[in-house]
Amino acid sequence: MSHLGPVVRPRRLRTTAALRRMVAETSLEARQLILPVFVREDISEPQPISSMPGVVQHTRSSLLAAVSEAASLGLGGVMLFGIPASKDATGSGALDPAGILNVAIADVVAEVGDAITVMSDLCLDEFTDHGHCGVLTPDGRVDNDRTLELYAEMALAHAAAGVDMVGPSGMMDGQVGAIREALDGAGHTDISILAYSAKYASAFFGPFREAVGSSLEGDRRTYQQDSANAVEGVREALLDVDEGADIVMVKPALAYLDVIRRVRDAVDVPVAAYNVSGEYAMLEAAAANGWIDRELAILETLLSIRRAGADVVLTYWAAEAARLLAR
Ligand code: PBG
Repeated sequence: MSHLGPVVRPRRLRTTAALRRMVAETSLEARQLILPVFVREDISEPQPISSMPGVVQHTRSSLLAAVSEAASLGLGGVMLFGIPASKDATGSGALDPAGILNVAIADVVAEVGDAITVMSDLCLDEFTDHGHCGVLTPDGRVDNDRTLELYAEMALAHAAAGVDMVGPSGMMDGQVGAIREALDGAGHTDISILAYSAKYASAFFGPFREAVGSSLEGDRRTYQQDSANAVEGVREALLDVDEGADIVMVKPALAYLDVIRRVRDAVDVPVAAYNVSGEYAMLEAAAANGWIDRELAILETLLSIRRAGADVVLTYWAAEAARLLAR
């Protein structure tokens, strides 16, 4: 007999699949998953992204098929990223109603209506020729407060296109408050804000920069957070809640599971986590080499992000995971 005595046997609850399912503490469901999608101006065929096997830059029409599929799979949402044909210093393509992201939002909303939540990445980096998330001062720094004015205008452009929820991702101080004020001032009180609150200057964004044709040289360390800091991540989330964020997000997810947990314990709004491009690429690369069971690893990854405290997860595997969960 074990030194623990006969009654202490945690293995009993692992005896059958039915029993394990009954006592599972954490769930993973399609409604909790958000699919990020890329739409590129001036292409006639979807373009593969070499560092993200299985993910493409969509045309306006292939985007609609992907979003319809996402809705029919019961996903929680789609997050749209636009890739313009030309860029400039102020990212003017982001504000232009005929700009790729704005027309794509309108296309998608016309296609799926309220069947799935339509979200937009609200940031200038895909639209600026220097690749930064904001406009620059004459000496080359990112100008926080001038950038806020452009974010407010961008929010109104997304609102005019019919978006349900905007996702400010540029890590400017005060961005959530500036966007909330602009939306409310124009009567868009129902459009919600998914704030990229604790967003770290991360090497795991590498493949995304290929995906959006980023022109960034250097890094974003003067506005994205230092990966050493978790208390600061909670502070950022609390500030965003004060400014009116409806959902706060931690990004990336896997190297920041502790931050997800701390934020979950500190706020009273839903918490999202972004399972980013580099996390996707790592697992896909290992699977392509036959070094890991791809489907099991995908589901374990997403479940672990949920267990850390994320209510919703942005993931490039959203559609596939929903199919796996339905099997
Ligand atoms: C900025 C933005 C980035 C990502 C989402 N929004 C890149 C960055 O900050 O450099 C990264 C997403 C990913 O890596 O999957 N608009």
